[in-house]
Amino acid sequence: MRFVVKTAQAHQNKTQLAIVAVFTDNEMGKPARALDKAGNGLISAALSNGDISGKSGELLLLSNTGDLPCQRILLVGCGSHTDFDRKIFRKAVRSAFGWLSHKPYTDAVSYLTQEHIKDADIFRSACISAECWHDANYRFTAMKSEKEASPVKLKSLGIAAHDTKTATLARKGMRQGDALGLGMSFSRDLANLPSNFCTPTYLEKQAKKLASNTKHLSCKVLNEADMKKLGMGSLLSVTAGSVEPAKFIILQYKGAAASKKPAVLVGKGITFDTGGISLKPPATMDEMKFDMCGAASVFGTFKAIAELQPKLNIIALIPTCENMPSGSATKPGDIVTSMSGQTIEVLNTDAEGRLILCDALTYARRFNPEVLIDVATLTGACVIALGKHHTGLLSTSDSLAKKLLAAGIQADDPAWRLPLTEEYTNQLKSNFADFANIGGREAGTITAAAFLAKFTEDLNWAHLDIAGTAYRGGSAKGSTGRPVPMLLEFLLNR
Ligand code: BES
Ligand code: MN
Ligand code: ZN
Repeated sequence: MRFVVKTAQAHQNKTQLAIVAVFTDNEMGKPARALDKAGNGLISAALSNGDISGKSGELLLLSNTGDLPCQRILLVGCGSHTDFDRKIFRKAVRSAFGWLSHKPYTDAVSYLTQEHIKDADIFRSACISAECWHDANYRFTAMKSEKEASPVKLKSLGIAAHDTKTATLARKGMRQGDALGLGMSFSRDLANLPSNFCTPTYLEKQAKKLASNTKHLSCKVLNEADMKKLGMGSLLSVTAGSVEPAKFIILQYKGAAASKKPAVLVGKGITFDTGGISLKPPATMDEMKFDMCGAASVFGTFKAIAELQPKLNIIALIPTCENMPSGSATKPGDIVTSMSGQTIEVLNTDAEGRLILCDALTYARRFNPEVLIDVATLTGACVIALGKHHTGLLSTSDSLAKKLLAAGIQADDPAWRLPLTEEYTNQLKSNFADFANIGGREAGTITAAAFLAKFTEDLNWAHLDIAGTAYRGGSAKGSTGRPVPMLLEFLLNR
């Protein structure tokens, strides 16, 4: 499937399917009006007959298009014309493309991008269109014995711009949305794959494969012996109960001069979190295969970067292992020494994410990062605080926090900042070690970040808690691909 930007008018362009907006109160967008005029009022008739009301997300196919150059017209309800914004645009595109993904057509053109959208220019609407096409076609079938044949017959999906000037912007947006969609799908595939397939070794293979297929991207992987030499006692304490070998994956993308300081992304890669000796209850424990969504989102971001080849230096660090109970597992009360030299009393082996992240954050120092961002399904408390809508953002840098929040809004992948002040750090006090790995029941998301902050002093660091946003439970169980949109937007803004 290829995305193409079109500048032709709806009533002059030959296609199997023209996708156009209609609004409530029998209002039409400009492309619909042009088609209506050239097509003897076929759209106004559908509206006045009440075949479609224009409510957002509503669809109506007109297949009797007479002499018009388009064989069919898909009317897409976009709500009230005056309220048409990015959110409703996204919903409309998703609805139209979801419908289209089951159809046998080989070409279609979306004119939704020719509408005026309150808070999106053509760059953004084209970007959203391409992203939504990937989302509409995402299926995870790797583990099904009967693979449904890919229903997609579409060869070309047109995104309509007004003129050559806006077409250039549309093309840029389309390319970014395409890369983003590919990155999100990659991230979702990794996360949806169960832990008996998606092991640290599997992630290592994926990283090496991505690097070997990508210009400017190299990969290095540390094994447990390497980690031991580096003094990563905290990370190693988490993998102590597991049979699967832990890995520390380093991806290095060099798109700019070596003198330019890199952005370093760290992704939590717990391929399964049983809780360890502090065992989790069985209900929904299966969802702990998603405990590598931080790693998956960093992988997805790198996939998009690999496509776009921006002039940036970016490094990914993926500490990855399982958290398992066994005779060799770390026990509550055990004290471990992190790579930073600080000692940690492991009061709860289920607070393992921070234990692998802290050594990765220390390791990040060798790259002299301009920014350091870790991404992790770190705390159940974050799901309680923010639900599935906002990613938790904690940072010791106001300017970095501001940039991440802005990127999240731009990309419709929002975060919400929580405070990270000294008081919370006191909750980590330990009677025996430098500090403990848990801070009690109160403010669990913040004390987790306060723990990480012990390892990021003097660094331009932010932490993203994606426990609520990275995947869905229940009947819609599966990875969302978040926060790849925010991370990509943030990086490309630099
Ligand atoms: N991976 C979990 C966090 C999590 C919980 C993510 C639920 C998504 C949904 C993490 O390793 C964990 O177990 N955290 C503990 C920390 C506690 C022991 C301080 C938690 O949140 O309960
Ligand atoms: Mn845990
Ligand atoms: Zn975990």
